Amino acid sequence: MSGARRTPPAELRRQRNHRSHQCWNHLIVAPLWVSFEANLGTLLRTCDAVGACMAVPKTAHYREALARGDTLPKRPHMHWVKGSKVRWLESQRDRDARIVAVELADDSIPLTLLEPAREPTIVLLGHERSGVPDEAWPLIDDVVQIPMIGRGSSLNVAVAGSLVLYRRAGLC
Ligand SMILES: C[S@@+](CC[C@H](N)C(=O)[O-])C[C@H]1O[C@@H](n2cnc3c(N)ncnc32)[C@H](O)[C@@H]1O
Repeated sequence: MSGARRTPPAELRRQRNHRSHQCWNHLIVAPLWVSFEANLGTLLRTCDAVGACMAVPKTAHYREALARGDTLPKRPHMHWVKGSKVRWLESQRDRDARIVAVELADDSIPLTLLEPAREPTIVLLGHERSGVPDEAWPLIDDVVQIPMIGRGSSLNVAVAGSLVLYRRAGLC
């Protein structure tokens, strides 16, 4: 690694494809119960990096939290979820999207075995304290768990969501 060097920002900009991605519904992160602005801001940056979109409830709370947490020059495409979150998840299943929950759960898939998305995927995240609520479980197709060996009981939700988005996007 003796030839390694930090890539200057101007060179990074040249290397990347700068056509801003459209939300083409293939990979959508759904922090439907995540409400801290820092977590939403982190997830927005990951969406931008991997070409995903974000779905959140269309409420004043989420609009304000996103406005505070967003540090991007241009926000990735959003899906605004109006009304019932469960009904929105049902509508995604109706269009044959796979609902992949990121959660600490029995019978879950370890992150290392998660395949890149071949079909439209909703990456569903739980509440910062209480996780994915009971009402959403009947609609979940797969649960992904990120292995942990430390003393903490869980990861930060934006870190967990970002790891799964990278994997599902096929970028790691
Ligand atoms: C801080 S955790 C919530 C933990 C909560 N105390 C519980 O027991 O359900 C918030 C969210 O982060 C995600 N998360 C955190 N660590 C995870 C892990 N190791 N594997 C999968 N998801 C994780 C899940 O979406 C979870 O709902």
